[in-house]
Amino acid sequence: MSRFRSVVAGIGSYLPEKILSNDDLEKMVDTSDEWIRQRTGIKRRHIAAKGETTGDLGTEAAKNALKSAGMEAGDIDLIILATATPDLTFPATATIIQANIGMVRGFAFDLNAVCSGFLYALATADSFIARGQARNALVIGAETFSRILDWEDRTTCVLFGDGAGAVVLTGEPGAPGMGERGIIHSYLRSDGRFTDLLYVDGGPSKTQTVGHLRMSGNQVFRHAITNIAASIAKVLDDAGLTVSDVDWFVPHQANQRILEGISRRLGLPEERVVSTVAEQGNTSAASIPLALDTASRDGRIKKGDLVLMEALGGGFTWGAALVRM
Ligand code: UT7
Repeated sequence: MSRFRSVVAGIGSYLPEKILSNDDLEKMVDTSDEWIRQRTGIKRRHIAAKGETTGDLGTEAAKNALKSAGMEAGDIDLIILATATPDLTFPATATIIQANIGMVRGFAFDLNAVCSGFLYALATADSFIARGQARNALVIGAETFSRILDWEDRTTCVLFGDGAGAVVLTGEPGAPGMGERGIIHSYLRSDGRFTDLLYVDGGPSKTQTVGHLRMSGNQVFRHAITNIAASIAKVLDDAGLTVSDVDWFVPHQANQRILEGISRRLGLPEERVVSTVAEQGNTSAASIPLALDTASRDGRIKKGDLVLMEALGGGFTWGAALVRM
């Protein structure tokens, strides 16, 4: 069986135009700009326009990633969309994006691991590429969490935003080596015993409704710090690398305090942490590729840099990945 490594050939993202500030939220629920900034680091978030769907955001991110890779839809043979907020119950929103970008070959499917979705999708695409079953893959994280928030619940509605990010992966011959570009290693975990701490209280089979997000924030916070730190240690250890080898830490953007807590534990200096949470809030599966795109476009992340990613989300699902850009 041939072995290919998955190299990031392009990155793109898309944020809806409308911005919702903390001041705007003060007019909607009993909260304050001060509380939101102090507890989360979030200043504002983007919200999809009426009628603008996850598929629309994902399509724009995919087009931008293709442009950045210098590829066309016809070059892609796999799309994996990580999302917990699909356009419809079925078909998979990935197939809607497939049609939107004019791709009439290959295959496309959705994957739901909530906030860890992008890491799950990256690892899944890497497996297809490694076995030669796909040459070029679009891995997208796209969400419209604004549609599943309870806008009267101040403990959750201030935290999330909408957006999409995408990478194009391309197969290069040879197993991933330390100095070569590509996905070096990833580590995924889930533990279904914690459903009650973070879930949506509706769905087609159980309630025949879409439902609203419910979260026991401080308990999720504690699990996030412990599980993420453990998965980072595991992925680094498995790869025979240490924190000092990491050029950029690109975490899931849930809360500035989580980012700081993990960086402190790992001994990662602040200037190597990419944070977009202030401007975008928590965009679930979209947050890692959005942060990757931000730091690539502003020149921080360069070809050859070692990037460490991590996330924890509903399920719980969590994990970490190491990618040489
Ligand atoms: O992406 C998936 C993973 N998600 C996460 O990782 C999120 C993890 N959790 C968190 O980020 C934090 O737990 C939160 C930001 C959600 C909450 O921060 P916290 O420091 O854990 O606050 P808390 O939930 O313990 O609440 C403290 C107080 C409570 O009031 P009392 O009971 O002490 O009187 C809340 O009712 O803050 C109150 N509160 C608010 N006050 C003003 C909760 N939300 C708000 C709000 N504005 N929006």
